[in-house]
Amino acid sequence: MKARVYDNILVDFNNGITTITINRPSKLNALNLETIKELHKAFKRAEKDKDTKVVIITGSGEKAFVAGADISEFADFSVSQGEKLAAEGQALLFDFVAYLSTPVIAAVNGFALGGGLELAMAAHFRIASDNAKMGLPEVSLGVIPGYGGTQRLPQLVGKGRAMELIMTASMIDASQALQYGLINHVTTQEELLPFAEKLAEKIKRNSSVAIAAAIEAINAGFEAGENGFDTEITAFGKCFGTADFAEGTQAFLEKRKPNFPGK
Ligand code: COA
Repeated sequence: MKARVYDNILVDFNNGITTITINRPSKLNALNLETIKELHKAFKRAEKDKDTKVVIITGSGEKAFVAGADISEFADFSVSQGEKLAAEGQALLFDFVAYLSTPVIAAVNGFALGGGLELAMAAHFRIASDNAKMGLPEVSLGVIPGYGGTQRLPQLVGKGRAMELIMTASMIDASQALQYGLINHVTTQEELLPFAEKLAEKIKRNSSVAIAAAIEAINAGFEAGENGFDTEITAFGKCFGTADFAEGTQAFLEKRKPNFPGK
């Protein structure tokens, strides 16, 4: 993938892994509209890029993944502007990431608050360093999570815990997030990205076509009005028509490692 210059994010490609780093450390990587638009472009490019097998999203600096939506941008918004902010943000970034066909790992390296936790929750799974702090503090500002947080937090940690976290506007640390199932692993700060890359390497060995089908089927189970089991049946069937399936099964029978063509 050709390098592209952004103002608020860094994008690095290495050996099948695209790492996107939100880079506004002086604002604790708060998500302003420009950053959201740049992230949309970067995720879109990564998904189109045949060489990118996994995306890692993280924050720059030692303090924050993302400390939330940029409060200075919406402090004087009206009702309709508020609604538009949430709708556009969800479409451009949060749903976009959740439904990306390329796997996305969030490497949470510090504060993940408000929109920051919502972005981490939109990723397909999360790991965090031991200094991470997570929460949805919006009600302390007189607003509610608007980038999917009221839906994805209960899906990940259960309704009661989500109710408590949102109502109290509290932050939890990495070990509590691990216990809640909000994150899958905790590492030291130094180990966070190497560990994310290690997981990405494992993912890379598998069929990217089958992984995309699995993401679609898993997501379907969380969609109102969709039957995840039906989506699974259709997606399962489709796999039988792919070159990856032919290679994967052939390799098994020939007792060798598969070399997936990715189609
Ligand atoms: N939006 C806009 N700016 C933000 C921000 C946000 N969500 N979070 C942090 N910043 C800015 C601060 O205003 C400050 O900028 P300044 O130096 O120009 O004044 C800078 O980032 C550093 O933050 P600061 O508050 O000085 O760091 P801290 O270590 O004292 O506190 C936090 C860290 C995360 C506890 C605190 O920044 C915070 O509460 N942020 C808001 C979290 C939030 O409510 N997010 C949900 C938004 S809907």
